[in-house]
Amino acid sequence: MTERVVIVGGTSGIGLATAQHLVDSGREVVVTGRDTAKLATALERLGKNATGEAVDARDPKALEEFFTGIGQVDHVVVTATGPSGATPFAELTTAHLRAGLEGKLVAHAAVAHAALPVLREDGSLTLVSAASAGAAMPATAHLAAVNAGVEAMVPVLAVELKPLRVNAVSPGVVDTPWWDFLGPEAREQAFAALASATPAGRVGRPEDIASAISFLIDNTFTTGVVLRVDGGARLGSAA
Ligand SMILES: NC(=O)c1ccc[n+]([C@@H]2O[C@H](COP(=O)([O-])OP(=O)(O)OC[C@H]3O[C@@H](n4cnc5c(N)ncnc54)[C@H](OP(=O)(O)O)[C@@H]3O)[C@@H](O)[C@H]2O)c1
Repeated sequence: MTERVVIVGGTSGIGLATAQHLVDSGREVVVTGRDTAKLATALERLGKNATGEAVDARDPKALEEFFTGIGQVDHVVVTATGPSGATPFAELTTAHLRAGLEGKLVAHAAVAHAALPVLREDGSLTLVSAASAGAAMPATAHLAAVNAGVEAMVPVLAVELKPLRVNAVSPGVVDTPWWDFLGPEAREQAFAALASATPAGRVGRPEDIASAISFLIDNTFTTGVVLRVDGGARLGSAA
């Protein structure tokens, strides 16, 4: 039977590339995001094996209604994100921190919770964290804290929810609309600098992360893992 995968945050960037990868490999996907225009564009691109709904992952009641409404699913992927952008610690407010926590750590946990009643017992849950969790990069304390929180949940859930497999992908810098806050020129400059400081010699493409997520869905002997897909940026020896 055709497997069904829900991608929360599947209307853009890494989530949309993952939806495309999974449709191309014969799955049915259900994508969500908040913005209905982005959702419509994504569904048009993905074709007949994709459906979707506008759901805010920060709203537990909306998540519960969504998962109850769609019925049984085999796999869930969570790529929803909090507000983007770096902020020096001296300028960081509790509002920044709360928005990051609500938009990502709390949202990922809420999705996992709401999905449980309809998620196949031996299916999979894949979260998306970020290399900032362990990069000691100035101006990313809030991102590091939130993404380290997401990563910390993975082994706990892998044991607690077994035989469900629970994993995460931790991407390095990936060329997606997440970076739009910079504007085109600054974005190009930042990507060039980041590429030259990365052993792989480039920034990531959404498809790089999509294929890693697909591996974690497919490989039934992998659970409790945070898979780093960052072009080697964490090794710090290329600059
Ligand atoms: N791009 C990078 O360099 C990079 C690096 C490391 C980690 N990541 C992580 O990868 C994940 C995907 O990021 P991306 O780069 O693909 O960003 P993106 O292109 O901005 O996509 C984010 C997706 O999440 C959805 N979303 C955001 N908030 C949501 C909410 N509250 N409820 C439901 N959907 C929500 C967005 O749709 P709506 O806006 O319509 O809701 C969109 O579909 C994020 O968790 C990000 O932190 C990205």
